[in-house]
Amino acid sequence: MNTNRREFLQKSSKLAAAWTVAAVGITACSDAQTTESDSTNQGLKILILGGTSFLGPHQIKAALDRGHQISTFTRGKTKPTVHQDLFSKVESLVGDRENDLKALEGRDWDVVIDNSGRKVEWTQKTAELLKDRVGQYVYISSTGVYYPYLTENITEAQSLVLEVPDALEGEEQKLEYGYGVMKANSELVAKAVFGEERTLVVRPTYMVGPADKTNRFIHWPIRLSQGGKTLVPGKTGDPVQYVDVRDVADWMIRLIEAKTAGVFNAVGPSKTQDMYNFVEKASAAFDVETELIQIDDYDFLKENKIPYLIPWILPEGNNWGSARVNNQQAVASGLTFRPLTATLRDTHEWWFSDSVSQEQRDKVMKDANGVLMREAEVLAAWEAKQNKG
Ligand SMILES: NC(=O)c1ccc[n+]([C@@H]2O[C@H](COP(=O)([O-])OP(=O)(O)OC[C@H]3O[C@@H](n4cnc5c(N)ncnc54)[C@H](OP(=O)(O)O)[C@@H]3O)[C@@H](O)[C@H]2O)c1
Repeated sequence: MNTNRREFLQKSSKLAAAWTVAAVGITACSDAQTTESDSTNQGLKILILGGTSFLGPHQIKAALDRGHQISTFTRGKTKPTVHQDLFSKVESLVGDRENDLKALEGRDWDVVIDNSGRKVEWTQKTAELLKDRVGQYVYISSTGVYYPYLTENITEAQSLVLEVPDALEGEEQKLEYGYGVMKANSELVAKAVFGEERTLVVRPTYMVGPADKTNRFIHWPIRLSQGGKTLVPGKTGDPVQYVDVRDVADWMIRLIEAKTAGVFNAVGPSKTQDMYNFVEKASAAFDVETELIQIDDYDFLKENKIPYLIPWILPEGNNWGSARVNNQQAVASGLTFRPLTATLRDTHEWWFSDSVSQEQRDKVMKDANGVLMREAEVLAAWEAKQNKG
């Protein structure tokens, strides 16, 4: 064994010992995790698998701000739409998780963050390749691992579905199950290869904020900035959950510095919030007159093709508990939540900036099937129904 390699393995085993202590701290006293700080936590070398889409650029900002070094590994296709200026300070490695990991061979990092995990085999291969050269594996999973969401107060200890059931009703259910099952098995693979004491799993709910390419949440910044009669789906008490992507990124980097291992639901807001309350709070981001019209008739919403308007999802069947995930462990470990108005304003500003193409905007704002285009019609039908009844 050459000296460098011996030194590295000695360093790895020391790091593993430190992670074990932090992991014990999680069960004994979560407060211990974020207060731990020693010289080894500064200037970490962090590899992000992915890093150029949504969560990645915010992790990069948080990490660079705190004096760490970043390498990203992507195919070189996706371009960031926030923090573009920071990428000149990032080492960008090119390959493909499907079949080309050469750029990762023979390299050492303190931490690898697996953002781009879309197949169990991808995580298996990168974990195997990096296990002796990297101290910690951070896997970005999802609260999708809890699908079907049949209970409330879903904690990290809930047992997970590891196989897509044979008999399923439709394509949609297969997709829902498929994503959660892939994430759950990827978590297991990461833990099996790196060991529990060197693995951190983060399970975010809907992440929202600037650079979100899913177009799921953007309805609200667009709509609430316009004011007027605004459709709010759902019954009073229908819970909603979401988390600002920047809060996840900042907190994750602190968890990494504290050498935290374990599994965490990355879920906000801090206290239970229902949909009406969410829209009320969010509307305060914009200085316009808004009248909220709550539509609390699930059948009417289904008939009018509004089974969800993220963060609200019609809470029935397999989705009943999708916004009933427990966030106590994450909050105890230091996850904090910025004001909702800041999320709304910043996302609005990003959406109407040069970083987003007119084509992308039109896709949402001129979508004949989207709620933005249909809202007036649905509200008129709702009013007519009320007047009849
Ligand atoms: N968005 C949400 O609300 C949400 C909620 C829960 C969990 N999550 C999870 O959060 C994670 C982060 O998502 P993100 O979009 O923010 O991640 P990201 O790291 O910002 O972007 C995804 C990255 O994967 C890279 N990539 C895609 N295919 C690749 C391949 N074959 N080989 C190498 N790189 C590849 C892309 O670059 P190239 O295209 O250039 O290769 C891109 O940089 C995901 O695992 C997602 O499942 C998201």
